[in-house]
Amino acid sequence: MNKRHLKDNVFLLGAVDWNRRLFDSLVPLPDGTSYNAYLVFGDEKTVLLDTADPATVDVLMAQLADVPKIDYIVSHHAEQDHSGSIPKVLEKYPDAKVVCSTKAKNMLMDLLDIADETFKTVEDGDKISLGGKTLEFIYAPWVHWPETMATYLHEDKILFSCDFFGSHIATSDIFVTDKCRVYEAAKRYFAEIMMPFRNVIEKNLEKLKGYDIKMIAPSHGQIYDDPSWIMDAYSDWVLGPPKNLVVLPYVSMHASTESMVDHLVSALVDNDVRVELFDLTVTDIGMLAMALVDAATVVVGTPTVLAGPHPMAAYCAFLANALRPRIKFLSIIGSYGWGGKTVEILASMIPNLKVEVIDPVLCKGIPKADVFKSIDAMAATIAKKHREQGFA
Ligand code: FEO
Repeated sequence: MNKRHLKDNVFLLGAVDWNRRLFDSLVPLPDGTSYNAYLVFGDEKTVLLDTADPATVDVLMAQLADVPKIDYIVSHHAEQDHSGSIPKVLEKYPDAKVVCSTKAKNMLMDLLDIADETFKTVEDGDKISLGGKTLEFIYAPWVHWPETMATYLHEDKILFSCDFFGSHIATSDIFVTDKCRVYEAAKRYFAEIMMPFRNVIEKNLEKLKGYDIKMIAPSHGQIYDDPSWIMDAYSDWVLGPPKNLVVLPYVSMHASTESMVDHLVSALVDNDVRVELFDLTVTDIGMLAMALVDAATVVVGTPTVLAGPHPMAAYCAFLANALRPRIKFLSIIGSYGWGGKTVEILASMIPNLKVEVIDPVLCKGIPKADVFKSIDAMAATIAKKHREQGFA
């Protein structure tokens, strides 16, 4: 793909990675992704905003083949899917300055071995004139690294937001064409990397209210030519109350825990509580993370194995603790053979989650009538607590 026109003298560059299926050796990419870079020509200066993942550097360099001079390479974020091709771009444009936040400079020196004199650091609110085009740099820490910033192009009212508002979608469309698809992908992306920083994102969203933004050009996925809905969605994910939803990740070895889980699902539905169920042996963890954005309650279903929770349940607890969802209530159900410390171990793995624990239901062997009665009581308790909190 060659350069693609966005606005007068503003172009989309970068690569669509149709076949990538895993990011950071962790995050599933069911729809591939893209690494968006942008080129802005002023009357006097030319700027490249971000680059591309090094695996796709040849695509970027081909797009730059007829660009004789680049004065600035803006690096919004030091993660290599955006910065990793800077050294190659510098080989072609050795006089270009890498423009970045002060924190990013140190990270880029560490990660890419770029020389100190190559950098021009900018502070929050600094501007650079390209001649007829003015870039303003907006520090946006923790979306999702501490060094991250965005750029606002005043004349065209475009926010180049880097990962902020991004989505992992491989597509030939420049602009959002299917809002539902992009909403899901952007929510998944938020859940996977932004959710732990909700408090800081709230401040960043507030900061952006001071700008007249007509277009958001992120570094992954399609460009928003109608940005209000994605900003509203972010506000909801960050600030809104949790929903009347129980997320139920579980693993079962010999069907006892599974029968408890099945019973709880029915009991919750009968109490008008929505449920999202995840068998951890086959779960796409991005889907689980996305469900955690909305959940008011998590109930983990796990058998006791090796004297503790099943390792997949422990993995799920570790992940939930790291993602810091806004859940309010937590519980555990499951079967054990002769004993163990499942509840204690799982509870010790979630110090970041400020939750009220609802009494777990553990049973020895296969669940019997008294166990199902306890699960019915758990479902009624959850429904009551959701109602009391006004979760809809
Ligand atoms: Fe798309 Fe945090 O890099």
